[in-house]
Amino acid sequence: MSVAEKTQSQKAIDLENNYGAHNYHPLPVVLARGEGVYVWDVEGKKYYDFLSAYSAVNQGHCHPKIVNAVKSQSETLALTSRAFHNDMLGKYERFACEYFGYNKLLPMNTGAEAVETALKLCRKWAYEKKGISENQAEIVVCENNFHGRTTTIISFSNDPVARKNFGPYTNGFIKIEYNNIEALEAILASNSNIAGFLVEPIQGEAGVYVPSEGYLSKARALCKKHNVLFIADEVQTGIARTGKLLAIDHENIKADILILGKALSGGAYPISAVLADDHIMDVIKPGNHGSTFGGNPVAAAVAMAALEVVRDEKLAANADRLGGLFRSELGKYIETSNLTSQVRGKGLLNAIVINDSEDSDTAWNICLRLRDNGLLAKPTHGNIIRFAPPLVINEEQLLDCVRIITETLIEFED
Ligand SMILES: Cc1ncc(COP(=O)(O)O)c(C=O)c1O
Repeated sequence: MSVAEKTQSQKAIDLENNYGAHNYHPLPVVLARGEGVYVWDVEGKKYYDFLSAYSAVNQGHCHPKIVNAVKSQSETLALTSRAFHNDMLGKYERFACEYFGYNKLLPMNTGAEAVETALKLCRKWAYEKKGISENQAEIVVCENNFHGRTTTIISFSNDPVARKNFGPYTNGFIKIEYNNIEALEAILASNSNIAGFLVEPIQGEAGVYVPSEGYLSKARALCKKHNVLFIADEVQTGIARTGKLLAIDHENIKADILILGKALSGGAYPISAVLADDHIMDVIKPGNHGSTFGGNPVAAAVAMAALEVVRDEKLAANADRLGGLFRSELGKYIETSNLTSQVRGKGLLNAIVINDSEDSDTAWNICLRLRDNGLLAKPTHGNIIRFAPPLVINEEQLLDCVRIITETLIEFED
């Protein structure tokens, strides 16, 4: 194709390819605008967004209340660093602590930073409160976890693509099978140096694996028994995505350390946080940890607006109801399908499993057709497609999406 003939989309893709590091493999679509559950590409084609920036846009694209918080706080005071106080941070910390039921919040920016923060907090607690000897603390994590991309976090990843040639790796992590309570029980009973258990309440990146009912509450109880911190990574599952405010709320448990990110921002600004009660958080002293941007006034204003939207618009209840409808409607098709075997998930965090190998390109090809048919989704693996629309979606839109997905899958049936 000559330069003159190139579409707007192709020009934008070429720019990224030529000047950007190739650390992602995006679906070929170039978005220029978003509103609610919809996004538009540079040619003006409209799509349903069924990824929601990996669940960061739970409140819908460009929510007016959240946009207004960004605008008005940016015009007033945007950044002070933590060298000085600002008049928004304390308000936000109180708001979020009351909202989630904790004594203290430590503000960061990205999910991976918040996970790192939680790991540091857990280790420091282990040495100063639990009495583990220096440098001996270990944290139990799960196989096939996804907690972000830092050197420490990828040290306990199973994903060879995320790990290879990034060593040497960080020590102090023990991997056990996800959703295997006996494995957790055995390791906690046999090792007194364990400081924490870091777990995703649903493994999102692994392909939306929902653990058995009772797994999380049993894990919580085992951690309590062995004086081990239960650390819930709710970066993807939190903030109404699974039909409750937090995914662990389905089992009525409270984490010792709660990690939030993504939708804490309403999709507008990088915001993450770690929450814990005083007996844990008080090990953190001035100089131990920080971030220039963490807790800045814009983030504080945006996070409060984002959480208010979730509460005022009852997004958890909407996710719960429409998630159920999505699985039952798609389930009807799947019963008759040779191509797909399962739709699974909770609330509006769902995935379908394609009857093909993990390294096949079937899911990718289906996502290309879904794009052509007006719906954007992305495979988590070669045979798994995640469906996670903004939680402001309504029933009519959801049923329209079920229609698009079903008609697209039919094109791939033998
Ligand atoms: C469970 C979980 N933890 C942490 C992260 C990392 O978040 P970020 O990409 O903002 O660093 C993600 C991102 O997908 C995630 O799903």
